Amino acid sequence: LDWSPSDKDLEQCAMKGKEMADCPNFIRVLQFLNATHIYACGTFAYSPRCSYITSETLMMSMKPDEGRGRCPYDPYQRNTAIIVDGELYTGTVADYRGNRPLISRHLSEGRRVDLKLDDTLGWLEDPTFISSSFIPEEEKIYFFFSEVGREYDFIDKFIVSRVSQICMSDVGGQRTLQRRWTTFAKAQLLCQADNELPYNVLQDIDSLPPAEGAPADETLFYGIFTSQWSVGWTSIQSFHMFRT
Ligand SMILES: *[C@@H]1O[C@H](CO)[C@@H](O)[C@H](O)[C@H]1NC(C)=O
Repeated sequence: LDWSPSDKDLEQCAMKGKEMADCPNFIRVLQFLNATHIYACGTFAYSPRCSYITSETLMMSMKPDEGRGRCPYDPYQRNTAIIVDGELYTGTVADYRGNRPLISRHLSEGRRVDLKLDDTLGWLEDPTFISSSFIPEEEKIYFFFSEVGREYDFIDKFIVSRVSQICMSDVGGQRTLQRRWTTFAKAQLLCQADNELPYNVLQDIDSLPPAEGAPADETLFYGIFTSQWSVGWTSIQSFHMFRT
């Protein structure tokens, strides 16, 4: 399946001062939407787009979908996305310059509305999105990211790794909270040995589901961390299911 920007798109991308090598369509979201369709988003010459693809024939729908807020513009920006029950949950930057981080839900239907959380309320501090995970028993989506830790304002730009949660049942709040998450909460993921500086920068994390029949809180998460201060130092830490 070829899904590339036109020569004209590429030309415009290069004219904006981007390297030609960064202008192709880098696919950054690729998820099964339902039994018949895949949902994909790509950077598309710094003009992100999404599309529905039939999984049987790999045909793409003619009409591209909005990519803003679902996929980064810049192939060097990290993002995360997960589809649960036909809804797309994403963490990405939502602007060309990469200054507007956003955690949002898309493709919601009926009484469920698309929701978002951006950095205007100080909820996100220049985050780097790493990964997302669905915990069926809790009906929650976890987002993993690192960001600038404002609680440590005595150190210049101290990076903190986070786990945050969102409830699938969230339909937003009232007045100024319309179309905004009301269930967002975040906590620090700490990876530190005795008497050592912390491995504070999460690089990747994956979940190991519990054995069949075992309770959900036996889910394990394995994170790979590096240190802001020691180049080349890496540590792996496992976490039990998070409880609030
Ligand atoms: C899957 O989603 C696509 C796009 O919304 C829709 O056209 C299709 O009917 C859905 N398929 C099923 C089996 O629900």
